[in-house]
Amino acid sequence: LPVSVYATEKEASLTVARHIAEIIKDKQAKGEIAVLGLATGATPVRVYENLVNMYKNEGLSFQNVVTFNLDEYYPMQPDAKQSYVSFMDEHLFNHIDIKRENIYIPNGTLKKEDIADFCIKYEHKIGEYGGLDIQILGIGRTGHIGFNEPGSAPNSGTRLVTLDDLTRRDASRDFGGKENVPTKAITMGIGTIFKAKEIILIAWGKRKSSIIMKAVEGEITGNVPATYLQLSDNVKFVLDKDAASELT
Ligand code: F6R
Repeated sequence: LPVSVYATEKEASLTVARHIAEIIKDKQAKGEIAVLGLATGATPVRVYENLVNMYKNEGLSFQNVVTFNLDEYYPMQPDAKQSYVSFMDEHLFNHIDIKRENIYIPNGTLKKEDIADFCIKYEHKIGEYGGLDIQILGIGRTGHIGFNEPGSAPNSGTRLVTLDDLTRRDASRDFGGKENVPTKAITMGIGTIFKAKEIILIAWGKRKSSIIMKAVEGEITGNVPATYLQLSDNVKFVLDKDAASELT
């Protein structure tokens, strides 16, 4: 697996943001749309901050950009402060010139019986735009990518999943207690992620070093869904030195 290690999260985030900007500009030059697969959580915050700076200071435009987020809690109201809709608005969308109709995030307000249909349409929408040009991933301490928790199938599509206990514990601070963290989420599948033309997994800090070691060097297993990335030719890990510290 190709792994790039940077001294700091700051440098790594700038490199990833510059790469995303290049994709957007290449597509713009050809009169095409750039299709970005985006993640939430603490890890990509500085990547988005850099993209906002490039919009403000370098004239990077998002007029030709369509985005698909990996996941959303279920149930979740979009205007709740813990929603991934709020997260994306706060960290990226409110500060750039993306067209609102070009933003796709799984809908946490659906009735249970409407979820399967929504998920099929989400997959189709990605396909209609010609697929994801790039998918940005974080990694959870369970080894999840998106919210594909241990036990997820390598060919899984967008679907309703149950969150692992560790994932809910890790989210408890945002929700003021684990009991308030939704038990479920709607997530792109491993199969959905694999179809992206390029996948970049980012991770920072010592807390991620052991799961990064397993993801990169461990046996490929459904117990650590990120290990499936070892089977992709289009994936790269971008780490800071703390997250990379257990790699051999
Ligand atoms: C978020 C997502 C998750 C996070 C992961 C790491 O959209 O899909 O897989 O990337 O839980 O979260 P942070 O970055 O908060 O450590």
